[in-house]
Amino acid sequence: MGSSLLSVQIAGLSLNYPGMLASGVLGYSAESMRRVIDGGAGAVVTKSVSLQPRNGYANPTVVQVNGGLINAMGLPNPGIGVYVEEIKHAKTLIQQPLIVSIFGYNAEEYASVAKKAADAGADALELNVSCPHVKQTGAEIGQNPALLMEVVKAVKAAVKVPVFVKLSPNVTDIVELASTAVEAGADALTAVNTLRAIAFDVETAKPILSNIKGGLSGPAMKNVALRCVYDIREKLSGIPIIGCGGVSNWQDAVEFFIAGANAVQVGTAIAFDSPNVFQTINKGIEEYLKKKHFRSINEIARSIHKS
Ligand SMILES: Cc1cc2nc3c(=O)[nH]c(=O)nc-3n(C[C@H](O)[C@H](O)[C@H](O)COP(=O)(O)O)c2cc1C
Repeated sequence: MGSSLLSVQIAGLSLNYPGMLASGVLGYSAESMRRVIDGGAGAVVTKSVSLQPRNGYANPTVVQVNGGLINAMGLPNPGIGVYVEEIKHAKTLIQQPLIVSIFGYNAEEYASVAKKAADAGADALELNVSCPHVKQTGAEIGQNPALLMEVVKAVKAAVKVPVFVKLSPNVTDIVELASTAVEAGADALTAVNTLRAIAFDVETAKPILSNIKGGLSGPAMKNVALRCVYDIREKLSGIPIIGCGGVSNWQDAVEFFIAGANAVQVGTAIAFDSPNVFQTINKGIEEYLKKKHFRSINEIARSIHKS
């Protein structure tokens, strides 16, 4: 049962708890989504899926560094044609919102994957326009306001379910891209994807990842993600923001709410801890709300961003 103190509304979706599984950290399976919900998540975001299958990059694709991970998986996925079966299966296993993360190489592809995912039962879509290590998609779209506008508009025209846009922190002015996404019709913003990064092996004097560069996640990026959320919230007061980047405990989640987020996503902490990390986070947030006499999570943000 969800506690009403912890429940949040994001673009018309009702979440019992404010933490969601971040895209890509667990596998594709409906069972792993169920495991995360049982661990206390309020919603799940699937790994990013495209029109055609992709193999992803050769190993090593992930390296542990101080305070986090650097990954360059290369967006491996079976393609939406196959993945619709997993979406349907997941809908039978979980009652909580299922958000399908999608990507494409142009606006038509995004729209086509979006429609297939929504028809299969996705409660919302998250547009991955911010993957830092795959050319021609991801960040190339998320760093270009004109392309971003085209993609978001095409997806909005193709589906009725809410559309989240996941922003890249690897830009000079994230507020410009956030404003573009909202203007194009985004129903919520996820801030943010990973930070471009690299790690070397001192023995071989070579990059560790087969793709050379990847995306940094985990506590090492938290304060950058917080700054992104804060900047967006200062400019855009109405849009729901889902904070993402380095949330490992309830204090991190509360920091995101203070910055202006309405919910958070958790990725790397699940790999370092377990899906039960959501339960610990929920408990801490609930105690904090009671102690501070807040009646809802949204009240926390209002205490700093006065608009
Ligand atoms: C191994 C791994 C795979 C990821 N795959 C995806 C993905 O497929 N799509 C996406 O939008 N983000 C992906 N991400 C980024 C996460 O969803 C999240 O934005 C990022 O890791 C920051 O959150 P965290 O610090 O809680 O992990 C991935 C992250 C990791 C560590």
